[in-house]
Amino acid sequence: MKDYLIYFAQAYPNFRRPELESLADLYNIPLDLSHHDESNPFLIVQLENDDQARKIMERSVLSKGIYELWGHGKTVEELQENVKQISSDKFEIFKENSFRFNFIGYKGSRSNRQKVKLIESFSFMAFTGHVSMNNPDEIYTILEEYEVTGSEKATTPINLWLGRQIQLSARTENILDKYDLRTRKYIGTTSFDAELSLVSCNIGQVAPGKITYDPFAGTGSFLVAAANYGGLPMGSDIDVRMLKGKSDDCNIQANFKQYNTSLYFIDIMTMDFTNNALRSDFVIDTIVCDPPYGIREGLRVCGAKNAEKAAGREHVVIDGEKAHLRRDFIPPKKPYELANLLDDLLTFAADRLPLDGRLAFWMPTANDDFEINQIPQHKNLQLIYNLEQEFNKWSRRLLVYVKRDESYAGETSNGLKAHHIKNFRERYFNGFNEKSR
Ligand SMILES: C[S@@+](CC[C@H](N)C(=O)[O-])C[C@H]1O[C@@H](n2cnc3c(N)ncnc32)[C@H](O)[C@@H]1O
Repeated sequence: MKDYLIYFAQAYPNFRRPELESLADLYNIPLDLSHHDESNPFLIVQLENDDQARKIMERSVLSKGIYELWGHGKTVEELQENVKQISSDKFEIFKENSFRFNFIGYKGSRSNRQKVKLIESFSFMAFTGHVSMNNPDEIYTILEEYEVTGSEKATTPINLWLGRQIQLSARTENILDKYDLRTRKYIGTTSFDAELSLVSCNIGQVAPGKITYDPFAGTGSFLVAAANYGGLPMGSDIDVRMLKGKSDDCNIQANFKQYNTSLYFIDIMTMDFTNNALRSDFVIDTIVCDPPYGIREGLRVCGAKNAEKAAGREHVVIDGEKAHLRRDFIPPKKPYELANLLDDLLTFAADRLPLDGRLAFWMPTANDDFEINQIPQHKNLQLIYNLEQEFNKWSRRLLVYVKRDESYAGETSNGLKAHHIKNFRERYFNGFNEKSR
């Protein structure tokens, strides 16, 4: 095993470990991240080889890059001593390769002149390859951590590492700019932000050639994120207007065209999730979604509020045809409880996912009355992550479950129902003033 240094982004630190763990698990790479510290963007991990490092980093959204560790010190002198001690054997291997140096400074940086001086002080590595700024064989990166005290600009690092760059992350390669909602052809009020859509797909283990289903597809944010990773996305939504978009140049298909991923896109269909028409033996590998909570969209299912009245309409005939059997019939919708919808979602996932397949969905919770037992559970689904993104009075949580076989003795429970938690919508529009129980 070799030491590698991971440099994380300063975003959603509690999602970082689940993202990398999920990617490592997807590629069957043993990776111990138990020592990950959310307050520190630097992490040393052990991997067998560069190929493993490349695989776990390439798709990552919450990391910036991974480096083969050549040395560490609290001062420049300590770093150089350590490089000589632990990496001398590598000097020969890379001796003739072209190279350049890079700097990464966390909470501080040094001037260009200082950088040049520092690079020159590594001349003991005696590389004979030429320096290439544009296309070097190797990039040696000096990563520095500074400590800011008061308002003073930090000038001396408290930790320095030298690493050979193995792989920059999708984030460093600008995936967030590419999927930025501000430049996406079709978005709506329900569109989910690009960063967390991509992270959800990573933690959901969307993989090339695997069918990814979003049952509440809306404007298709998770669908385009899934296709980015080679997943085969398929979506449904009860609201045909969402799926249709505004024009040929402003709909879900246009988004796939924009990202050059149309080939992966299976299709979308107008369908009430609770009256699901997908064949029962149709294999769905991953489910990633953001169910309706009634904030920007209604939670509705097919059915009539008043069954008696609706029964009376069954006799309505248009042009000799029963109205409700015509193709242009729009079925009535009625409100539905969120607690029931989440039950339906878990039951569907437990029935349709293959063993080890993942269900990842977002659930909002009020901060003042959240209890862990509100998270719905199913006896064949193991909840592996409950990741909180906190706002002022409420949070949304990415809940990630893995399908287990019958020998997994989980419990089925619905905390929202059991604790009579009011629909999140009511509390949201009350400004969370009235408690739900
Ligand atoms: C929170 S939005 C999801 C938005 C989506 N992630 C996007 O990128 O735009 C929830 C969606 O669920 C849909 N919906 C509500 N009730 C539904 C039902 N019974 N079956 C399927 N979709 C439903 C709504 O029309 C809405 O588009």
